[in-house]
Amino acid sequence: MKQNKSHHHLALKVGILGGGQLARMLALSGFARGLEVHALSENPTDPVAQVSHFWVQGSPDNQADLVSFSKHLDLLTFESEFFNAAGIEKSLGRHKKKLFPSTKCMSMIQDRAKQKVLLDDFGIPTAPFIVVHEPEDLISSLKVFGPMVLKKRQGGYDGNGTWVLHNPNQIAKIDKKLFLAPGFIAEKFIPFSRELAVMFVRSRSGQKQALPLTKSVQKSSRCDYVLGPVSHSGFLALQKKFFKMLDAIDYVGVLGVELFDTGTQLLVNELAPRVHNSGHYSQNALNSSQFDLHWMAGLDLELPEVQIQEKAFAMINLIGRKNTSRMKAPNALSGQLHWYGKGESRPGRKMGHVNYSGPEIKKLLAQGLRERNLFRI
Ligand SMILES: Nc1ncnc2c1ncn2[C@@H]1O[C@H](COP(=O)(O)OP(=O)(O)O)[C@@H](O)[C@H]1O
Ligand SMILES: [Mg+2]
Repeated sequence: MKQNKSHHHLALKVGILGGGQLARMLALSGFARGLEVHALSENPTDPVAQVSHFWVQGSPDNQADLVSFSKHLDLLTFESEFFNAAGIEKSLGRHKKKLFPSTKCMSMIQDRAKQKVLLDDFGIPTAPFIVVHEPEDLISSLKVFGPMVLKKRQGGYDGNGTWVLHNPNQIAKIDKKLFLAPGFIAEKFIPFSRELAVMFVRSRSGQKQALPLTKSVQKSSRCDYVLGPVSHSGFLALQKKFFKMLDAIDYVGVLGVELFDTGTQLLVNELAPRVHNSGHYSQNALNSSQFDLHWMAGLDLELPEVQIQEKAFAMINLIGRKNTSRMKAPNALSGQLHWYGKGESRPGRKMGHVNYSGPEIKKLLAQGLRERNLFRI
């Protein structure tokens, strides 16, 4: 798509594959920017269906659904990297350039083994790994690594699809069917001192930006809250390597990067070729959100210099505590609420988040955790 970088067409028709909270927030950002945002997902109660009049029922993995959905659209993106990349490429045919990031980037990153090879190829430090084909490989991996983390090659999220293994007795609990598909990688257990995260963005013509480095705190392998900005002496060197990689693979859009800080080194934990939970703070803490930047990158608009509005920020995830459809929010919040519109809460389910900005990180976090307790979810 040829664009004048200083302007974009209003009412350009764009589409999102997938229907969850990431799709919903992409849609809201797109509408605010004057785009006509279509979305394809399976269920009429999906978070995105509630905010787009142009929602279509169907599956991005069904070629007929995808062909009819994408026919009249100028641009397409996805909220999950776990759709069938080859199927999408086939459905889009000569229009495959409409999709960003590309199916090539999607298929490299959706497979943890290929993703690790990609990182290695660009000299980006990450935990040592072994591709696991059969249960016996786990025994030999344990001998090499000692404590290790077994990860499904595809489809894992929020700790579903990862297992920490210390000894061969624990191997029995792994479902044997998974060795055939999607398979696993085994990764050395990294005793990190903290987990960090960063979002990079690259536009079609190669302009690149890094959002602020953040600290992300996981509870039961699920993002609990994010604080920032934080600094690390190794970050600029890492950013340089990433920018090289993004250019080399012609990556377009936002890329989410999860990191381990070992105290001495920054290691990449994993990549997500899309907007990411650890970037939600950007909706209120920055001059442009990760969702805005993702669209700008896909539209090949001039990316604005990323600026933090206040000294510090916090993003507190609202995570379900019980099974209920009678959820309640406190009347008064000092932060900005982003509710995902899910019909019922379940333990561990991401229901929404609240963003806070202010002069002091510690106060924001304390306030956020206090206010989270007032939710009945
Ligand atoms: N190699 C590792 N060493 C130590 N902890 C790990 C390792 N890999 C993952 N973890 C922990 O498990 C969490 C979930 O793993 P991750 O690979 O990010 O999968 P998911 O797709 O579920 O987010 C991480 O955020 C981290 O806390
Ligand atoms: Mg993760």
